[in-house]
Amino acid sequence: MTALKNIAIFASGAGSNAQKIIDHFRRSEAITVKIILCNKPGAGVLDIAARENIPSVIIEKEAFFRSEEYVQLLQRNNIDLIVLAGFLWKVPSNLVAAFPDKIINIHPALLPKFGGKGMYGNFVHTAVIAAGETESGITIHFVNDHYDEGRIILQERCTIDANDTPDTLAQKIHALEHRFYPAIVERLLT
Ligand code: GAR
Repeated sequence: MTALKNIAIFASGAGSNAQKIIDHFRRSEAITVKIILCNKPGAGVLDIAARENIPSVIIEKEAFFRSEEYVQLLQRNNIDLIVLAGFLWKVPSNLVAAFPDKIINIHPALLPKFGGKGMYGNFVHTAVIAAGETESGITIHFVNDHYDEGRIILQERCTIDANDTPDTLAQKIHALEHRFYPAIVERLLT
C-alpha cells in the first residue's frame, strides 16, 4: 500500500474551490485534505473547515513572512502538496524553497494576461471585460517567487458574451475551476 498523501489548502475567501477539493477526496484512501490555512479571520473557508472537521490555522502575518514557523508546521504535517485556492498573499520564498514544485495556484484568467499583484477575484473579471476580451479562462500553475509566473500546468477557456458582467463571468470561471482543479490536484499526487 502506498503512503497517504496530504494536502494543505491555503485560502483567503469564501472557499468554494476548497470545498470542491474536500468533496473530491472525501472518500479517498490515498489522499486527504490535512489542514487549511487562512489569512483572513471570518473568511467563509474557515466555516467550511469547521463543518468538515479539518484543522484550520489563521496565518499570522509577521511569522508568515519573517520566520520558519509555517514551513515547520507544514513539514510536521507531512504535506505533499500545497494548494492555493483563492489565497491572496504572496507565498514567501522560504516556503517556495522548502516545497519545490509542490505549491500550485489557480488564477481566474488566462495568464500571462491579467495576472500580478492586486489581480484577484472580481478585479480580474472587471479588467478582462474592460479590455474587450472575447474569451477568458483559468490557469493552474506552479508557484515560484513571482506572482502568477510559475510554470503553467493547465489552462481552460470560456467565451465572453456581449452581455457578460464581472459577476456572470465569475460564475463561468468558478464552474471551470470547480471542474478542473480537484482533478489536477489528484493527478499531481498520483
Ligand atoms: C477563485 O476564482 C480564484 O481563481 C481566485 O479567487 C477565487 C476564490 O474563490 N484567485 C485569485 O484571484 C488569485 N489571484 P473561492 O474562495 O470561492 O474558491
